[in-house]
Amino acid sequence: MTATSPECITVRTEGRVGIVTLNRPKQLNALNNQLMDELGAALKAFDADQDIGCMIVTGSEKAFAAGADIGAMATYTFADVYNGDYITRNWETIRAIRKPVIAAVSGFALGGGCELAMMCDFIIAADNAKFGQPEIKLGIIPGAGGTQRLPRAVGKAKTMDMVLTSRMMDATEAERAGLVSRVVPLDKLMDEALGAALVICGLSLPSVMAAKEAVNRSFEGTLSDGVMFERRLFHALFATEDQKEGMDAFVNKRKPDFKNR
Ligand code: CAA
Repeated sequence: MTATSPECITVRTEGRVGIVTLNRPKQLNALNNQLMDELGAALKAFDADQDIGCMIVTGSEKAFAAGADIGAMATYTFADVYNGDYITRNWETIRAIRKPVIAAVSGFALGGGCELAMMCDFIIAADNAKFGQPEIKLGIIPGAGGTQRLPRAVGKAKTMDMVLTSRMMDATEAERAGLVSRVVPLDKLMDEALGAALVICGLSLPSVMAAKEAVNRSFEGTLSDGVMFERRLFHALFATEDQKEGMDAFVNKRKPDFKNR
């Protein structure tokens, strides 16, 4: 964590769930370096905390995040962004988080905001959510994975449409296209995300982390490499006490008591 209290996010826990709320309401949670540094530090701290089993990243009703901070970027030169690690600084931190991270999205998730949501493990959307990659209107292109992660989620046709025309997708279309896993009424968003997070927290952490790692591997290499990777993790989980506990509990028709080892 940063030595001082964060200014662009708020951080809290609910049971074993770590919740980070993006908090630059006047700028619709536009993502500047400070916010991204604070977010990265908060998620890393939760990842290292044995009392945390799952994380949620969320924003405000009006905006999950309206993208990278355009005011901050406006005067950057090529050398600034290439040499200085600006704008997308620290964004890869989120990719390195090993416990599950759920994006609870209401309102605008645009540009870097959409990319941030896609870096999370899955997206639960409120019915007012809008997703888009409008960078083309600024004379740039998505710079935090949008051209790579969006086609993997929704395919080429919808990605090209969104990236080339800046058209936004509403929550219904985003769910139909596979970008989000669930759509709920706005006032139920945090309950739904928390419910999903608490389910995850009740499971065996080694198997949860292995499942996340294996699914993410499917986006990297060949099918046969991915299947082999999955098999090795599957085999390895038979070395955990939780596998014995989970299967014994099923066989004996009782609730498992996982110890995360
Ligand atoms: N950066 C900085 N400030 C932003 C911002 C952004 N991305 N998005 C919104 N704001 C600010 C506005 O400037 C405005 O500030 P003021 O009140 O001081 O004028 C405030 O937030 C409210 O915004 P609007 O008045 O525009 O609100 P609206 O409801 O009329 O429109 C919106 C909402 C459609 C989201 C509109 O604000 C918008 O189009 N924002 C920019 C979206 C965008 O282009 N995002 C991509 C950024 S580039 C990027 O993300 C690169 C990357 O891949 C890493």
